[in-house]
Amino acid sequence: MLKVREVSFSYRGQGKNSRIPALKEVSFELESGSFVILTGRTGSGKSTLLQLLCGLIQPESGRIDCEYGELTSRASMIFQYPEECFFNPTVREEIVFSLKITGRNDYGRLEEILEKIGFELDRFGSRTPFSLSGGEQRLLAIASIVALDREIVLFDEPTSGLDTKAVDRVRTILSSESRAGKTIVVATHWPAEFLDLATHVLDLVEGEIGHFVTVSEYVNGNLHGERLEEKERFLLDYYKRFARFPASEEELISFVRREKRC
Ligand SMILES: Nc1ncnc2c1ncn2[C@@H]1O[C@H](COP(=O)(O)OP(=O)(O)O)[C@@H](O)[C@H]1O
Ligand SMILES: [Mg+2]
Repeated sequence: MLKVREVSFSYRGQGKNSRIPALKEVSFELESGSFVILTGRTGSGKSTLLQLLCGLIQPESGRIDCEYGELTSRASMIFQYPEECFFNPTVREEIVFSLKITGRNDYGRLEEILEKIGFELDRFGSRTPFSLSGGEQRLLAIASIVALDREIVLFDEPTSGLDTKAVDRVRTILSSESRAGKTIVVATHWPAEFLDLATHVLDLVEGEIGHFVTVSEYVNGNLHGERLEEKERFLLDYYKRFARFPASEEELISFVRREKRC
């Protein structure tokens, strides 16, 4: 259980005593194993909240209690564009480095994750990280942090700039972490991307909670607004009808065919 109680945070502004408020008395609780989609416009406080949840910054007022112990050792965060932090000459050294700084030597777990998303470490381990495609770099950076195996995993817009194939691989990692019982919070501009994996949606509006609801309340209350692609609209229609997302692409297609009578 993660309890966030009346947490406020502001950044130092330009003037002497000027502050830029980022979060204002935010309160919510997360059960272990929750998968939360964090939405909100740019500047609404998503990245600030994620940094507070991993103990990287401290609340100005209010508190965050984590049943597992200190957040800094229980949570890990995948920053936006994590691949910008690569600096080792080879992929293998990059991975070994990130595992070493956290005192874990869990190479096996990392290999498992990479295998799940179709990466063969044998084949690209000796290459320079910069020779990988943008999507591959992102996946490698995500996998090496997820390999740390923390109870709480926070993702800051993990799919920005990725093509659909790479997005699918990010989804594979998130879904397997979620099945392993991790508590997950993902900031995204495109909630539909993870809706079938999630349990809750938390929306921030100018540093305050707009809504914190279950996925079912989110879909049935039409809280997504109108910003949906056709496929997503059918997915949500399916959910409204059957109270679950389709188990396969085929299931969705046959639903769409019935709806469109073709
Ligand atoms: N390092 C910083 N210094 C000053 N202001 C910041 C800093 N980081 C974020 N802010 C401000 O805090 C508010 C929340 O930002 P942020 O948490 O990054 O939102 P989001 O991730 O939703 O875009 C915004 O007004 C933003 O301009
Ligand atoms: Mg942000």
